[in-house]
Amino acid sequence: MGVETPHIATIKISLNMVSTPFIAVTIVFVYIFSCLCVVSHSNGTFTSEKFSSALATWYGDETGAGSGGACGWQDDVKNPPLSSMIAAGNANIFLSGKGCGHCFEILCHQQPYCSAKPIKVTISDECPGACNNVPYHFDLSGFAFGAMAYPGKDHNLRQLGQVMVQYRRIPCNYRGTKIAFKVSEECNPYWFAVALEYADGDGGFGSVEIAPNGTKHFVSMDNIWGAVWKINIDPSFQAPFSFRLTSGHGKTRIANNVIPKKFAIGHKYFSNVNF
Ligand SMILES: *[C@@H]1O[C@H](CO)[C@@H](O)[C@H](O)[C@H]1NC(C)=O
Repeated sequence: MGVETPHIATIKISLNMVSTPFIAVTIVFVYIFSCLCVVSHSNGTFTSEKFSSALATWYGDETGAGSGGACGWQDDVKNPPLSSMIAAGNANIFLSGKGCGHCFEILCHQQPYCSAKPIKVTISDECPGACNNVPYHFDLSGFAFGAMAYPGKDHNLRQLGQVMVQYRRIPCNYRGTKIAFKVSEECNPYWFAVALEYADGDGGFGSVEIAPNGTKHFVSMDNIWGAVWKINIDPSFQAPFSFRLTSGHGKTRIANNVIPKKFAIGHKYFSNVNF
């Protein structure tokens, strides 16, 4: 944000004062500031993201956690670090599953119920069909929708059913929680899949690679849906499994031996890394 203001101010000055050295200095300044914008973006800080308008609704129980269904996280959404602060996104937010794990700040000014304090949510599900009648639609958990209200006004706000909100992408920050791997229920000696959760920063993954037998021989996995990545294997490809993770912004982390030799399907294993 701090970068934007001097950038604009500099351009205004250059239009009023047309001396050549001044223009030269101005061009240098504009150049430096644009570089800073680009750098802060690629670091995943999203510092220059501005608020835009979206429609917000809620689903499930009044104070419920919503769902992790379309991202592969199931009921994990109700537990920390997500703690029910999730949203289903329409096509422009869910991005065919690439939006799973992205974090947003959402701000509601609707009076007399909204506090106008931004809430933070993670995309954990898809809102298909009619949610695409507007360009950007967040279908929040009942709990998250209520969190936009003044204390004690959450029920009144939910009664409205829908409100216009302001939103912007922010870096995810799970405050020390490490990236988790939820082993698919359908795994077998020929097919292995995991859902990835709780990535800081960008929140998504550019690539996921797996190495078998406690080795560092990494092989690419495919993002088959939501936050679920799979690999076709043969029975010699055995746990413990390590992973090489690349964030949506290109940061790389190695999570050694996250999936133990005798792992349980459906179980969630924590690594000791995050972005
Ligand atoms: C993994 O280890 C098993 C048993 O030690 C071995 O038979 C198998 O070939 C190894 N597989 C790979 C992919 O290294």
